[in-house]
Amino acid sequence: MKFDKSRALLKQAKKLIPNASQTLSKGYKMFLEGDFPLFVSRAKGCYIWDVDGNKYIDYTCALAPIVIGYSHDEINRAITRQLKDGITFSLPHKIEVELARKLVEIIPCAEMVRFAKNGMDVTSAAVRIARAYTGKDIILRGGYHGGQDWYLASQPPQDWGVPKVLKKYIEVFKYNDIADLKAKIVKHKNKIAAVIMEPVPMEDPKKGYLEAVRRITRQNGILLIFDEIVTGFRMAPGGAQEYYKVVPDLACFGKAMANGMPISCVVGKKEIMAKTEGVFLSTTFGGETLSMASAIATIDFIKKHDVLKHNWRVGKMLYDGLNKLIDKYKINAHLIGQVFKFKIIFNDSTGRESNVKKLFFLQQAAFRGVFYGTSTECNYSHQPKDIALTLKASEEVFKIMRANGDDEIKIKKLIKGKIPVNKFYRDQR
Ligand SMILES: Cc1ncc(COP(=O)(O)O)c(C=O)c1O
Repeated sequence: MKFDKSRALLKQAKKLIPNASQTLSKGYKMFLEGDFPLFVSRAKGCYIWDVDGNKYIDYTCALAPIVIGYSHDEINRAITRQLKDGITFSLPHKIEVELARKLVEIIPCAEMVRFAKNGMDVTSAAVRIARAYTGKDIILRGGYHGGQDWYLASQPPQDWGVPKVLKKYIEVFKYNDIADLKAKIVKHKNKIAAVIMEPVPMEDPKKGYLEAVRRITRQNGILLIFDEIVTGFRMAPGGAQEYYKVVPDLACFGKAMANGMPISCVVGKKEIMAKTEGVFLSTTFGGETLSMASAIATIDFIKKHDVLKHNWRVGKMLYDGLNKLIDKYKINAHLIGQVFKFKIIFNDSTGRESNVKKLFFLQQAAFRGVFYGTSTECNYSHQPKDIALTLKASEEVFKIMRANGDDEIKIKKLIKGKIPVNKFYRDQR
């Protein structure tokens, strides 16, 4: 397998683009400089081709947006139909109303909708709406919510360039620990605008936890915001709030909602959304119609073909299969997350997370035609035969690791390439 073009492109990109990527989890610093695919040229279904022409079964799904499959014919047709009428206009387009109506039908807390492009646009919008509605400033947060100042202030070392003063407006609470949330509510009594959280981060909610969060926020006049950027249209069409039947005041969706086209939304109760319609959230491309056409087609396709049932089924095959192999070859590793999105965490002999072992696994899997990337998700195009091939490839890699005693020092010597320095990280939760 050759990676010459990836290497050459990285050399150019480093001169032109800081980090050589627009997205932390897609950039070379997450992977290897050497024998590794670093740039993609095209994708179809569940496959990607790198710039050297190597083909892989992909499990990152572009960091979760691809829920049906890359470049899917039916979704492409919907985008092309809209393209013939135009993309962005001088007035709102009727498709905005059509998509808003669909979202209101599907998402339990949605009575009104505002659109944007990225996840962070709408988590920030939700926070501003909550502050405006309650007249309070403090935010308690319980997950990853994107790259805006209000959030990064609580996420060192990613707080570089963020005014320090913002730190006093945000505090992190521990997931699945209701006593911790209660203590933070007491600490900031009557000053909290919202609790924003990933309802299902890389662990399942304990029985009654989400219900308790709902009850406590309501009792204290705090808005509850569910960040459903990952869970939306993946866990259930209406997200974790549909799955667990716990309805927040506001919620944020993005990623899988349009199978890869850039669109996100903040939705919520009419009482809040209508009262805060004067909150300034205006963007030139907020009503861009190709993404809306894609979102409508994606939502219809998900419903018609029971896409999430398929994705959970193949996800479980992979999840269970990997667990069995980890056991069989006694690899110091475990899976975190749920079958609809998970990560493999490798540890060294002291129990510390081992980036070296992870990168070795990713590289060797890539040599065998499997691209695991930074997180693992399945889409509607993955078939049981793809999972079988993936497990076969993974078994071969685990075998090599076992033959080397699963020892980090020995495994490091087998890596073909250099491990880049990466001081940034993403909250695992
Ligand atoms: C839970 C969650 N919220 C918000 C975001 C931010 O979304 P975006 O990167 O589209 O701004 C992400 C991105 O990974 C996410 O996983």
